[in-house]
Amino acid sequence: TADKRASGNIILVGMMGAGKTTVGKLLARQLGKTFIDSDEEIQRRTGVTIPHIFDVEGEAGFRVRESSVIQELLDANDIVLATGGGAVLNAQNRLLMRQHGVVVYLKSNVHDLWQRTRHDHNRPLLQTANPRAKLQELYDLRDPLYMEAADIVIHTGKQSVQILLERLQHKL
Ligand code: S3P
Repeated sequence: TADKRASGNIILVGMMGAGKTTVGKLLARQLGKTFIDSDEEIQRRTGVTIPHIFDVEGEAGFRVRESSVIQELLDANDIVLATGGGAVLNAQNRLLMRQHGVVVYLKSNVHDLWQRTRHDHNRPLLQTANPRAKLQELYDLRDPLYMEAADIVIHTGKQSVQILLERLQHKL
């Protein structure tokens, strides 16, 4: 709708390791918009790390904080918002994202996601015996939800982030 475009907001969704933060920062700079990362915002507000929130409040507690931060941020204009990989699990988040901006799904295959997250220790959901299987499980569950939320799908692969940005700008 005209409304969501008028907001000037661009919302990036996709799995952990899809490149939402990297792409979002560069896109915001190129378009002269403000970049916000929902995980960063949660950490800034609480003064603790995401793994700490998972430890103390569990995933459920984190999701409540995440939804409230995202829904508040969507009142803004001219932002590029990188959301956490699980933000689309909440139906209200999906609806509000669609209403308040152009939603871009950075779609990557599980192999690439695994390569890009295997050395990270700040993603509690991947602190498991078999993180690759976990990524596959999350992907199967979430891909339909990302697709539902998205106005634009960008496949990420081996190409440079600059090429990816050009392809995205072309579709915006
Ligand atoms: C999560 C993704 C993370 C962070 C949290 C949970 C998920 O964000 O919100 O660890 O459920 O996929 P990134 O997608 O930025 O890694």
